[in-house]
Amino acid sequence: MALQNPFFPVKDDTLHAERIALTSIAEEFGTPTYVYSASHIRNQYKHLNDAIQGIMPEGRHAMICYACKANSNLAILKLLQQEGCGLEVVSEGELIRGLKAGIDPQKIVSTGVGKTNQEIRAQIESDIYNINVESLPELERISTIADDMNKTARVIFRLNPEVSGGGHHKISTGRRGDKFGLMKDDVFKAYDMAKDMMNVQALGLMIHIGSQVSQVNAFDAAFSKLPAIVGELRAAGHTVSRLDIGGGFPVKYTQDDQLLDLSAYANWVRDIIVPLDVDIALEPGRYLVANSGVLLTRVTDVKEAQGQNFLIFDAAMNDLLRPAMYDAYHEIAPVQNHNAPETVYDVVGPVCETGDTFTRDRTLPRMKRDDLAVIQTAGAYGMCMSSNYNTRPRAAEILVDGDQYAVINARESYDDLFARESVPAWL
Ligand code: LLP
Repeated sequence: MALQNPFFPVKDDTLHAERIALTSIAEEFGTPTYVYSASHIRNQYKHLNDAIQGIMPEGRHAMICYACKANSNLAILKLLQQEGCGLEVVSEGELIRGLKAGIDPQKIVSTGVGKTNQEIRAQIESDIYNINVESLPELERISTIADDMNKTARVIFRLNPEVSGGGHHKISTGRRGDKFGLMKDDVFKAYDMAKDMMNVQALGLMIHIGSQVSQVNAFDAAFSKLPAIVGELRAAGHTVSRLDIGGGFPVKYTQDDQLLDLSAYANWVRDIIVPLDVDIALEPGRYLVANSGVLLTRVTDVKEAQGQNFLIFDAAMNDLLRPAMYDAYHEIAPVQNHNAPETVYDVVGPVCETGDTFTRDRTLPRMKRDDLAVIQTAGAYGMCMSSNYNTRPRAAEILVDGDQYAVINARESYDDLFARESVPAWL
């Protein structure tokens, strides 16, 4: 069953992105193409921001730092910047994108277990809000680099809460044994070390437990440890004035998926986090963009073989990796003929791997060669995880905003693909 989304309405039996028919986008720009709804992104931001700002006390602030690994297109960053959103970056490339989009460095935080010296240097140089430190050796490197630059590095420490949060095991990050964060004892060590560092200012803590966290009590399991830790740190004379509560806010991949109740979540922040007397940062990725995007594709052929119907799309695993990588479920819907009799399909792409299968045994309205379809909930971790596997140019990206639309990333050409390759003279 297609996912209902008011920003992708069906009018005259044709699926639209806001006011633009997806048939006309396919005609003008070809397929496969990612199509995003700007209004949906704004709407998501506003919902979460309103919920959080509504419970913040005087004198403390909360800041949404979009985890742009989910979708780092410059136009999307610009759109969020205009809403007042900050950014979470995990590489120098993402930092450069954020600055290009005009995001205030004082709204940028950086995470990642393997920040290189060059990345740390760029973060200090840009004077970002804080660096989220993931290990003691990393803290030492930050200190050395800050001394060398004679500039202050503001840091917070990522606590490994020893909790498994939501989603697939490959995207759970807060368990003992995961590569992320510092165990509690090391957080105390880190604060002690920072005290002796000339140019490092330790300001607080961060926790991110994983993705698709749909129950407030999953956050509870991790954050219930905080009051004691914060109390102990303060008693030892350390500053804890900032808390980054990570991302992981869930979205619907199917109509039945549970969403986090935002007002319950806001109440939880009010009851559990606000009493800690800290400024708060949140790092939603998927929540802001996943259901703002579809991958528009055309049926290359329908193949009947071995008693099965293969619906073969022109989109493939190189365009949207999630089904192959995480066995992720994405709804699929035709762009037209929604009431056609239903058929059971295995939906596949053209790449030479059995893993290039979007889904098996899916009941869908019957489709035929050249029909258009969408793969839904593709706005997060879609385009940004795409590749050129099988020498396939990467898809175009289109942003729709009411009745306006624009290419925000042109489809790659074959010249683009070969531009940086060269054949040595001796061959
Ligand atoms: N903050 C940190 C430190 C993170 O590691 C992540 C995601 C986020 C925020 C944002 O999480 P979100 O709100 O989007 O769930 N490629 C995978 C997801 C990997 C997530 C990695 N970290 C997927 O397609 O599901």
